Amino acid sequence: MALEWCYAGNVVGSNPTVPIMKIKKVAIITGASKGIGKCLSDIFLKSEYTVINASRNRPSEKTNAIFIKTDVSEKESCRKLIQKVTRKFGRIDVLVNNAGVLHPDTIENLSDKTLKSNFQTNVFGAFFCSYFAAKQMIKQKSGQIINISSSAGVSFREGILSYAASKWSVVGFSGALRLELQKHGVDVICFCPGGTKTQLFRHYKEDVSKDFMDPSELAGKISEAMNRSEKEKWLFVYSRKDRVLKKFGFEDYPVQQ
Ligand SMILES: NC(=O)c1ccc[n+]([C@@H]2O[C@H](COP(=O)([O-])OP(=O)(O)OC[C@H]3O[C@@H](n4cnc5c(N)ncnc54)[C@H](OP(=O)(O)O)[C@@H]3O)[C@@H](O)[C@H]2O)c1
Repeated sequence: MALEWCYAGNVVGSNPTVPIMKIKKVAIITGASKGIGKCLSDIFLKSEYTVINASRNRPSEKTNAIFIKTDVSEKESCRKLIQKVTRKFGRIDVLVNNAGVLHPDTIENLSDKTLKSNFQTNVFGAFFCSYFAAKQMIKQKSGQIINISSSAGVSFREGILSYAASKWSVVGFSGALRLELQKHGVDVICFCPGGTKTQLFRHYKEDVSKDFMDPSELAGKISEAMNRSEKEKWLFVYSRKDRVLKKFGFEDYPVQQ
C-alpha cells in the first residue's frame, strides 16, 4: 500500500516540497481480539497500516497492532475510540465494523437479552463507530468503511432469528451509508461471510463448524473486496459452499427506486 507524506502529523499531499516524516495509513478494526478480525488485522499490518484493534479484551496472541479497549455496544466507548485515534494520528483511512456476537434464538424462546445483545453489538456498534469515524472521513474527503454482515444477512435461516435480523440491518445500513458518503469521497462496502471456524458459535450446544472456512481465508477475501477494481460493487458474499467472491452493486437489486 502506498504511504502518504506527512507534515507535523498532518497529511499535506502526495508530493510535498518539505516532507519531514512518513506515516502509515490508519485502520481501525473492531472485534480484532480473535477470529476474522484478528486475521484481518494481521493482513493490514503486513500491508504497512498502523492498525488499531478495538475490542473488550486484548488479543490473545502477540500483535504489533495498537489495542484500544472498546465496547462497541456503548456509544460513549465508540466516541472515545475514534477521538483517541484522530487525536493521535490525525486521520482514519479504514474502519472495519467487524465486532459481532451470535446468540441463537427462535420466536418461541426469544429473550430481551439475546435480542438486545445481537442488535446492540452487531447493528448499533456499526452505527456508533461509523457515526464518529464518518465525521473525520468527511473532513479528510477520503476513507473506507467496511461493515461485516453475514450470509445470514442476505438469506433466510431458522434458529438465529435476531442475529439474522441484525445482519440484514447491517446490509441496509451499509447501502444507505454508501449513498450518503460517496459524495464525500468515502467508500462504504459490506461483506457477508459464510460459515467460518471461529468462537462465534460458542453459544451452540453442538459443534456446527465442521466444514467451515479458516478465518485467514475469509480475511483475505475481505481484503480483496476492499481493494477491488470495480468500485461500483459494494456488497460481497463469500460462502463456504462455492468459495466464489460474489460482488453486487445497486444496479443488481431487483427493486429499484
Ligand atoms: N464465523 C462465522 O461463521 C461468521 C459468519 C458470518 C459473519 N460473521 C461475522 O464476522 C464477525 C467476526 O466474527 P468471528 O467469527 O470472528 O467471531 P469471534 O471469533 O467470536 O470474534 C468476535 C469479535 O468481536 C468482538 N466483540 C464482541 N462483542 C464486542 C463488543 N461489544 N465490543 C467490541 N468487540 C466485541 C470480540 O472481542 P471481545 O470479546 O474481546 O470484545 C471478538 O474480537 C462478526 O460480525 C460475525 O457476525 C462470522
